[in-house]
Amino acid sequence: MNTPSSNLPSPDANRLWSAIMDLSALVDSDSPGWTREVFSDPYKASRAWTLARMKDAGLQAHVDGAGNIVGRLPGTNPNAPAIVTGSHTDTVHSGGRFDGVVGVLGAIEAARVLQESGTRLTSDLIIMDFLGEEANGFGVSCVGSRAVAGVLDAAHLARRDANGVSMGEAVAAFGADPNQAISMAWNPRDIKSYIELHVEQGPMLERSGSQIGVVTSIAGIERVMAVFTGRADHAGTTPMDQRADALLAAAEAILTVERVGCGAPVHGVSTTGRIATGHGAFNVVPDSATIWAEIRSIDPGWLGGARRSIAEKIALDAAQRGVEVAIDLLNDQDPVPAAQTMQDTVAAASDDLGYSWEAVPSGAGHDAAHMAHLGPMGMIFVPSQGGRSHCPDEFTDKVQLSNGVHVLANTIRRLDLA
Ligand code: GLV
Ligand code: MN
Ligand code: MN
Ligand code: MN
Repeated sequence: MNTPSSNLPSPDANRLWSAIMDLSALVDSDSPGWTREVFSDPYKASRAWTLARMKDAGLQAHVDGAGNIVGRLPGTNPNAPAIVTGSHTDTVHSGGRFDGVVGVLGAIEAARVLQESGTRLTSDLIIMDFLGEEANGFGVSCVGSRAVAGVLDAAHLARRDANGVSMGEAVAAFGADPNQAISMAWNPRDIKSYIELHVEQGPMLERSGSQIGVVTSIAGIERVMAVFTGRADHAGTTPMDQRADALLAAAEAILTVERVGCGAPVHGVSTTGRIATGHGAFNVVPDSATIWAEIRSIDPGWLGGARRSIAEKIALDAAQRGVEVAIDLLNDQDPVPAAQTMQDTVAAASDDLGYSWEAVPSGAGHDAAHMAHLGPMGMIFVPSQGGRSHCPDEFTDKVQLSNGVHVLANTIRRLDLA
């Protein structure tokens, strides 16, 4: 691999910070924290802002059929495969300002650094703001990156939310084209590599004091939705041993989910994020409950076994209570290792710039996991204060963000020269 003769200069930390703060103003003002959920009006408004921001930075930018914003910095060889970077700008409900945003606005800042330093890449640099990375009301995450990678299909579009609207209808109402979204797969031959900058969203870098995380692997995600159906009865007159209490079956299932995660001998976590019950009252034995849970690990073997044991235990415990249960298992994504060459390139760029780094797994899902279908994939993490994320307290300071963009720009340059 050729190494660059000199490093690219530091990004403009203040310019990056004010871009992040400007985008963070485009949120749902009726929700706490920062809320810019996919398909919402604030998200729509923010996309016009991001498109304009890319154009201001000298990129050729457009919105593709899947609703992704695509910015291109042309290289000197139009036939060379492109280097792709980016992330997402949608948030979870009441989320933070940095998750995803740093990978998009940081990439735009990196493109400015390249141009301002008079560095012309051989390959085109493509910067993506992927549509809807966060798991949405249809149970689908990473809509835009799945589309580009060719792994978004008709079954995804057919999924319905709680209001009975299909995701295909939501995509069309947003102004994108569902048919294009499932047929637009990029050709891997056109892609040299994919590199994504992101906040860690966990505590490891802060604990060890490392400035940069070199991501080794992105966790796989298995989702479990369980619908419990029992029997409504009078809470005062029905003996304890004659009930079919759906809420108790759900409560037991939630603890099962927790126990499986706690018992993981490898990296593994499990969460029940939501429970809903029927109409419910003080004095009625509950006849229905639904839970939404997920398990994550970078170890495919553990993930498969954990999913099976959760489903079996939930079914067994519910049956003992006389409660029926319908379990919907959804494989969201398999664990994806980062390419060793990409890890080595990020590590070398960090070393060269004098930033401390360590190898870390990602427990969070990312667009990068899908982009790995198209070519070598790597990720760069910067520390998250207190490891907090998916909440309003999510924070990474200006200097740490700028360090991440510095490593991103120099990684892109190395990838171009390789
Ligand atoms: C999204 O950020 C996820 O990891 O679920
Ligand atoms: Mn993210
Ligand atoms: Mn997220
Ligand atoms: Mn994510």
